[in-house]
Amino acid sequence: MREIKLSNGHKLRWTVASGAFGPGTGWWWDKVLMWLGFIDPTAFTIVAKTFTEWPRRGNFRWWAPWKTIQFINEFGDSGVRGFLFCQGMANAFGLRNGGARKWLGEFPKKANPKFSVIASISPDSETDMAGEIGRVAHEIRYLKHVKGIELNGSCPNKRGGILDACEITSCSEACKGEAPEMPLIVKLSVAHQPMLPNILPALRNIGVEAISINSVPWKMVFPKKESPLKKYGGGGVSGKPARKLMWEFASRILASTDIPLIFPAWDFQDIFEAKLMAGDRPGAISFGSVWLRHPTWPNKFIRQAGG
Ligand SMILES: Cc1cc2nc3c(=O)[nH]c(=O)nc-3n(C[C@H](O)[C@H](O)[C@H](O)COP(=O)(O)O)c2cc1C
Repeated sequence: MREIKLSNGHKLRWTVASGAFGPGTGWWWDKVLMWLGFIDPTAFTIVAKTFTEWPRRGNFRWWAPWKTIQFINEFGDSGVRGFLFCQGMANAFGLRNGGARKWLGEFPKKANPKFSVIASISPDSETDMAGEIGRVAHEIRYLKHVKGIELNGSCPNKRGGILDACEITSCSEACKGEAPEMPLIVKLSVAHQPMLPNILPALRNIGVEAISINSVPWKMVFPKKESPLKKYGGGGVSGKPARKLMWEFASRILASTDIPLIFPAWDFQDIFEAKLMAGDRPGAISFGSVWLRHPTWPNKFIRQAGG
């Protein structure tokens, strides 16, 4: 797998997935781990958590995080078994965020100049999706340290929770129209699989520079098992239990387009399989759930892989 060279010269090889490293500056525990020297985020391109134009309450509550985020083992068991034999996560975060407007004001003051950050944005309303994306993208282009924009193709307000092919296309166009010099990454969900024949040619025409992969709806991974987050429709599954479906999705994308793919990884085996799938095509590896559960592992993986 060759690294992805974005049109602004930035190179993508190892990335931290959206949601794993807070708003691009790290969660509080990342800051402690950085201070202790246990993690080095400068080795990665960091995708900030997703922001919608205006604040969104979502489902997550700081005083009861377990209600919307659970560690799970390979069988989808949560609780003690999920924590001890953790292989991934179920989350129904619901894109809780303080709004892109606030982030746009704060990020330049808080950003670590050594970090390479990609902004992640998603529409919230059902009526003016492209407008929201265009307005936020227009502001992001003025942010130093931001190397690109990731359009998150999920929208918790919509039934099914994902943007359809037309919405993804119009939001990508709006983003490119308002921030033409910013490389654009589009994040798709395995639930987009039936729409790929419509989505991929459109993304290629628009000049999308990479595709990343979101968590998988609980019912697709564990059709016969009740989700610990059933109150929120089951949530999304990430990490090892979701890998089989993610790899099927990845191979469909690889077979249908030459847009580079960013592969999610939980362990070294995932990195190996992703490299096999990509062959000599450009691609990158992203660390999501593993960064949240074992923040020190990704740095070890990339040292083992030779940097
Ligand atoms: C707690 C949590 C929060 C997340 N928040 C976001 C988010 O804000 N935006 C986004 O695009 N993806 C978000 N994701 C999805 C991850 O970025 C990633 O796509 C997903 O976890 C799949 O990768 P993995 O299997 O390596 O974990 C989140 C995932 C988790 C577990």
